[in-house]
Amino acid sequence: MGRTAAIILAAGKGSRMGSQIHKQYLELKGKPMLYFALKAFESSPIDDIILVTGPGEVDYCQKDIVDAYGFTKVRTIIEGGKERYHSVYEGLKSIVDCESVLIHDGARPCITTKVIEEALAGARTYKACVVGMPVKDTIKVSDDRGYAAITPDRNSLWLIQTPQAFEYQLVWKAYERLLSSESYQTGITDDAMVVETMTQEKVKLIPGDYANIKVTTPEDMEIAKVLLNRIYGNE
Ligand code: CTP
Ligand code: MG
Repeated sequence: MGRTAAIILAAGKGSRMGSQIHKQYLELKGKPMLYFALKAFESSPIDDIILVTGPGEVDYCQKDIVDAYGFTKVRTIIEGGKERYHSVYEGLKSIVDCESVLIHDGARPCITTKVIEEALAGARTYKACVVGMPVKDTIKVSDDRGYAAITPDRNSLWLIQTPQAFEYQLVWKAYERLLSSESYQTGITDDAMVVETMTQEKVKLIPGDYANIKVTTPEDMEIAKVLLNRIYGNE
């Protein structure tokens, strides 16, 4: 089997968190949030980690996170771009010699090696595979005045998370097409969408973990602390 890589995204500004420090560096259990995603991938079968960070944050990530905690699989730290998909593209561009690639939000610290292993197996079986969970709440689509318009059948709805896992050549081709076709570049919120719109390939949904939340707003910090204690213990 060929080499496997993970792109960990940490180039966002965390505007919905509303803190001075970008959310991926806020402390959880005495460590920057980004530490936990790096730790899970470091402990997984993934060979190489590409860390994508914000302008001016490369040195901080290298010294205060990668070197300070002794991560050995981080091959390169690069600057991302304006939108998440720009950051992913930069990450994909920096990869050489890779069979499967996992793309993960640095703002999902509660990721476990078990879910990483399942996503990797999914990439090998299906070529394109994303982790998610069946929704528990009823979801409604509103009209433009805020009235309930459509209630889709809950049984077919999934919350989509990361890692999103792909055969490298497939996702690379999809991103190259996306970046060269401006008309598609609005409302792209995940990598599966890029593969769905830019290729013929179907994306398989596999169950992940309800605990694998994306830390987005301040109350998510409290929830993440509880979930991390469950994974790593209380001290
Ligand atoms: N991300 C990135 N490059 C961007 C935007 C986002 O690498 N230009 C990363 C974030 O750092 C995060 C992940 O993509 O790990 C998911 O994005 P999101 O939760 O939206 O984070 P932010 O964009 O930072 O937050 P917000 O949308 O509230 O500003
Ligand atoms: Mg964002």
